[in-house]
Amino acid sequence: MSEAPDRSPSAPDWRIDADFLHLELGAGAAHAWAVEVVEETGSTNADLTQACRAAPWSDDACSVRVAYRQTAGRGRHGRPWRGQAGLTFSVAMPLALSPARLSGLSLAVGLALAEALEDVDPALGARVGLKWPNDLQIDGRKLSGILIESVPAGPERVWVVIGIGLNLVRDPAMEAALGRDLAGVAEAMTTFDPQRDPTRILAAIANRLARMREAFLVDGFAPMAARWSARDAFRDEPVRLLHDGVVQAEGLARGVDGEGYLLLHTPEGLQRIASGEVSLRGASA
Ligand code: BTN
Repeated sequence: MSEAPDRSPSAPDWRIDADFLHLELGAGAAHAWAVEVVEETGSTNADLTQACRAAPWSDDACSVRVAYRQTAGRGRHGRPWRGQAGLTFSVAMPLALSPARLSGLSLAVGLALAEALEDVDPALGARVGLKWPNDLQIDGRKLSGILIESVPAGPERVWVVIGIGLNLVRDPAMEAALGRDLAGVAEAMTTFDPQRDPTRILAAIANRLARMREAFLVDGFAPMAARWSARDAFRDEPVRLLHDGVVQAEGLARGVDGEGYLLLHTPEGLQRIASGEVSLRGASA
């Protein structure tokens, strides 16, 4: 579905503190990452996929692009993403891996995000659950969406562009646009400082993503699967898998395997579900 660009998005009233960000990244795994913050763009994912197409290959050149406003932000399944009540940014990450070794990457990203929120505030981390393949939610309400796009750069080289929209506060306009109840990190944090916390959260996510990348390059998703399943919001619950609104499979969610497939207990036995175009819903939804 394509939509007319949002002509008048409002800017948030907080700003990334560049000095503080530099300090927080310097102490972590993302210390060498380049970060650019812009007032407005169409889509940070579109910007970075375009930049990756033109960039010479480099094994380690990770970069982040943050925008306070996106006029054509994109979500999964071709949906638009308006995220003015949150952090909207993308990370370009080179991975010297064959396509076969990328399985589970999107789950690894969701897990890194959940763990970063726990680093920022354990009370927040405790409330965040993962919804396969990579949504974050609080009490069944969507907290964050992740859109991963890839730019092949050779037989064993791919740039992945990881787009993240993380709600800071609950935004009724976005709830209406998405037709979903949303959550924001502020409601689950012990205290939320709108001037300082967006920067802390961005740095924590970058540092966790950098650690995830190092681990993923060596061993892939498999060693992370147990940590993912421990945060699975639907573990042992009845779920449906939908494609274009049509139910494809139903059963009990049994976590994920080492390749990031959802394990679904059905009357016919245990099925492995690949992410692709299917969406998961609780059976009662
Ligand atoms: C989803 O539909 O759940 C994924 C939403 C991803 C939105 C983010 S916001 C930053 C980045 N730029 C985009 O255009 N999309 C992603």
